[in-house]
Amino acid sequence: MSVIKVIDLAYVRVHAPDLDQARRFLADFGLIENSRDGEKLGFRGLGPAPEILTVEPGGRGLVAIGFAAGARDDLELFAQATNSRVTQRTGRGGGWQVVVHDPDGNQIELIWGVTPVEPVTVDRPHTNEGSDRYRRRGSVRRPASGPAHVLRLGHVVLTTPQPEPLAQWYRDMFGFLVSDVIYDGSEDNVLLSFNRLDRGDEYVDHHVFQTMIGPPGGIHHISFEVLDIDDLYIGHQFLTERGYRHMWGVGRHKQGSQIFDYWIDPSGVMYEHWTDTDLLNADWTPGVESAGASQGPWGPPMPAEFITQVG
Ligand SMILES: [Fe+2]
Repeated sequence: MSVIKVIDLAYVRVHAPDLDQARRFLADFGLIENSRDGEKLGFRGLGPAPEILTVEPGGRGLVAIGFAAGARDDLELFAQATNSRVTQRTGRGGGWQVVVHDPDGNQIELIWGVTPVEPVTVDRPHTNEGSDRYRRRGSVRRPASGPAHVLRLGHVVLTTPQPEPLAQWYRDMFGFLVSDVIYDGSEDNVLLSFNRLDRGDEYVDHHVFQTMIGPPGGIHHISFEVLDIDDLYIGHQFLTERGYRHMWGVGRHKQGSQIFDYWIDPSGVMYEHWTDTDLLNADWTPGVESAGASQGPWGPPMPAEFITQVG
């Protein structure tokens, strides 16, 4: 039984050495800049979360990860269990928070009571495919070129020398459930642990939090959902034209089934666009797979630098 069950991943806070460069990349990536608090930049997607990424001056890498609690009482419970306290949030949207550190020293902010913002809608024409190939009858599909449209924050992946014990700490604290594990050699040598929210019967993304073999305290990547596959490829073309460093994609993952595309921002942090995830509820048997069998059904092979990438 976990201390609490978080209901979502709320935001990621990162450092960047050059804020102007960071803001150009993130706008080109499809995030919407919505606040500038002194030196801090805040970004939202099209959804109701007031801030899904903040960029703060510094070297580079992780400042903190924010998870959303479902009730104010959960903050109290969590504060008692971790010998910490509930304080008022100064971040966008207000609310309350408990700040702790995981066993690797990463700062975790459990939040509640944040005021949502009005979602932004983007008109998307239907596709004519599969069993419903007359949905767009009588109209044309001509999406505009430009940056992709980030809907929301999907997941965050931390590097750690011990992916399984670190993931277990998060499961014990926040109620995450294992969706898939990838091992090397023997099943107890876990390289990657994919974890999802436990929202009972409700279907959630295949993973919201992942640990991956690497140095402690590193970001492997931060991942955002875009509108659809057109949007992902339109974003790909735009980022290519702007000369950013591409890491891997476009392809379809095996674990989670997302169509993915990975980019490196100018400070060296990796960002992912994805669309079309598997959705699971609490009733699912975890998959266990060797690293050699983890390639998805299509897309380029995983580059070696993808494994060693740390932001
Ligand atoms: Fe990912």
